[in-house]
Amino acid sequence: MTAFPEHLDVEAIRADFPILARTVRNGNPLIYLDSGATSQKPAAVLDAERSFYELHNGAAHRGAHLLSEEGTEIYEGARAKVAAFLGADPDEIVFTKSATEAINLVAYTLTSSIKPGDEILITEMEHHANLVPWQLLAERTGATLRWFKVLPEGRLDLDPALITERTKIVAVTGQSNVTGVIPPVAEIAALAHEVGAPVLADGAQLVPHHPVDVTALDVDFLAFSGHKMLGPLGLGVLYGKAARLEALPPFLGGGDMIEVVRMEGSTFRPPPARFEPGVPPAPQAAGLAAAVDYLTALGMENVAAHEESLTAHALDALREINGVRVLGPDSTKDRGGAVAFEVAGVHPHDVGQVLDELGIAVRTGHHCAAPLHRALGVQASTRATFYVYNTHAEVDALADGIRYAQRFFGARQ
Ligand SMILES: Cc1ncc(COP(=O)(O)O)c(C=O)c1O
Repeated sequence: MTAFPEHLDVEAIRADFPILARTVRNGNPLIYLDSGATSQKPAAVLDAERSFYELHNGAAHRGAHLLSEEGTEIYEGARAKVAAFLGADPDEIVFTKSATEAINLVAYTLTSSIKPGDEILITEMEHHANLVPWQLLAERTGATLRWFKVLPEGRLDLDPALITERTKIVAVTGQSNVTGVIPPVAEIAALAHEVGAPVLADGAQLVPHHPVDVTALDVDFLAFSGHKMLGPLGLGVLYGKAARLEALPPFLGGGDMIEVVRMEGSTFRPPPARFEPGVPPAPQAAGLAAAVDYLTALGMENVAAHEESLTAHALDALREINGVRVLGPDSTKDRGGAVAFEVAGVHPHDVGQVLDELGIAVRTGHHCAAPLHRALGVQASTRATFYVYNTHAEVDALADGIRYAQRFFGARQ
């Protein structure tokens, strides 16, 4: 077997993830290649969430008692930790339910600042979470939705002419969840800023896998989900530059986001509180803080290098299988660890089912990116995504599994 450089001690990492010890179908060990959908959780994250409930469970930002105070410290501590992870200020971090909610927050609260004739610019490679909210904003306001198209190899056709004085917001993925393509977000931000348009980056597939510094990226908003970066489900993050957040009206109304409430109307707190009504999800925040600690200890440069090595291996292995076409670039340059592919003559759902019988968990379908699949000339695909706990042996098992699926369905090899 080829020797691959080791950037992480994967065996030690795997021991931290209880779920990796279980067997799945037919008694096979779990080969989890679906972290792009949701990542597995290390014991440290599970412990942090459990210990919140066992020791500190009180409503953060609420009661006058010790538990509430501790809950507040943990919740605000998590905010500070996420901010440091991104090179941001804690007040620039809004906790949401998910990346989806974070994007909807921005799209909804921009409504009053957009008028007919204005343009909203997105890309053809977006996940539906960074597409549908902008379609809805265009419908609400009479603005026009425009998009950068995708080139045949999956990269963005960055036509600067699409950014004009009419552009009022640019929303672009930080990394495609299908092709792994990493668009030049900083370059797009620079062009958008020349016409005064803010930029939102969908970081759902970027932040878990690469070092991200919001100052270097110079985006105005960055949305991502904790559950794709070793953290618990139910907690997302919206980073927003302080002045940009300050300019937005509330999104959801309720307790704690207000200053003065009278029957006639209310005034609202500054961000981030303005956007966080209701009892805060402090246990999830405790879990996310533990996930950030875990990733920081590994080093995000090492995380990215490990995934690049797995991706290079997967691209090599899949290239050697007749009848398999990888969607997206054939090299790891500006490309992360999402490898979607089609197998000639075998429907993706059948590929997924055969792999599942072997204990290999992948995703099949359009992965919530139907327009991108259409642009690449396919209806659906099978997708493997990699993370810190995946091994090169698992990449080989994927390739063997695809060959087995081809034989099983009598497909051309
Ligand atoms: C690129 C991208 N954006 C947004 C999302 C939405 O994330 P969530 O479902 O956690 O809100 C996903 C989830 O798969 C994604 O891959």
